[in-house]
Amino acid sequence: MIHIEIQTPDDWHLHFRDGDMLNETVSATARCFKRAIVMPNLVPPVTNAKMVEEYRQRILDARPEGSDFEPLMTLYLTNETTSEDIIAAKQAGTVAAKLYPAGATTNSDAAVKSLDALFPIFGEMQNQGMLLLIHGEVTDNHIDIFDREKEFIDRNLTRIVSAFPELKIVFEHITTKDAVDFVVAANDNVAATITPQHLLLNRNDLLVGGVRPHNYCLPVLKRNIHQQALREIVATGNKKFFLGTDSAPHEKNKKESACGCAGCYSAWSAIELYTQVFDELGALDKLEGFASHHGADFYGLPRNEGTITLVKEDWTIPEQIILSNGNPIVPFFAGQNCNWKLKV
Ligand code: DOR
Ligand code: ZN
Repeated sequence: MIHIEIQTPDDWHLHFRDGDMLNETVSATARCFKRAIVMPNLVPPVTNAKMVEEYRQRILDARPEGSDFEPLMTLYLTNETTSEDIIAAKQAGTVAAKLYPAGATTNSDAAVKSLDALFPIFGEMQNQGMLLLIHGEVTDNHIDIFDREKEFIDRNLTRIVSAFPELKIVFEHITTKDAVDFVVAANDNVAATITPQHLLLNRNDLLVGGVRPHNYCLPVLKRNIHQQALREIVATGNKKFFLGTDSAPHEKNKKESACGCAGCYSAWSAIELYTQVFDELGALDKLEGFASHHGADFYGLPRNEGTITLVKEDWTIPEQIILSNGNPIVPFFAGQNCNWKLKV
């Protein structure tokens, strides 16, 4: 039997949500990941140390029996965030703060309207050793949705990186060749996460033959040359790029709607699908770095002990998952074949 063993991986970007949903999402991630960077875009958003601590406790309480899964918490930046908020959050163990341009994605209306006004906060984060995680898209109506990542690089990211050379920045869920090239050329304090959907799919998978709402996420899938650039960079083993699923559940009726939510719920199959991609690329030897080493090293955290094993074996991703409230969620790649399986 063909199999691969890798050091226990982490997920450096996901959405657990809150309330009853936590029983579903925390277990699905803890089945293979030891740690995860937990996004703060709840309703209301997680904007101070107290909210971070309370949310962390709710996640810990939702862990399956015997699990040693560790959530790594983040703070949601707004134009009201103060230096004191950064210091208090850091003291409460928060590892990073998340920059959402207002209106860029799910629950981002309260987020950052004036980026320049936040520069003193970035300075405090640099002093405190708190990472800055960026949803890198501009939100202007007149900028085409497919160009919003590149526009953010040109207009904003370049300036932030040069103003704060000691600030560790993760350019989250990158989707374009422009982002790959930017991160490769930037200093060593700039890295990026890449999702399974942006490695597996391009915009044809969203739009050809009908709109496929379960492939709709933000930043939106791009044309295939961008998908190729993402696949090529992970195959090189470049240490600036690491695993961040952006697993982001929405109930089925919120996705299959006249105005469907953005997000792919990939926790049920993410490590398996990444393995499939690295196998397709002939780069299985680079999977462990991407999934288990580069992120921990960049965050300055120890690599995990233990290992997981993946076996080359076909299985079908479930059509849907029923939440404790009885409502279904359609997972990413629902009903499709995956040719790598986590050995449990
Ligand atoms: O597709 C996405 N879903 N992208 C994001 O940036 C947010 C996420 C969510 O929270 O649903
Ligand atoms: Zn996200």
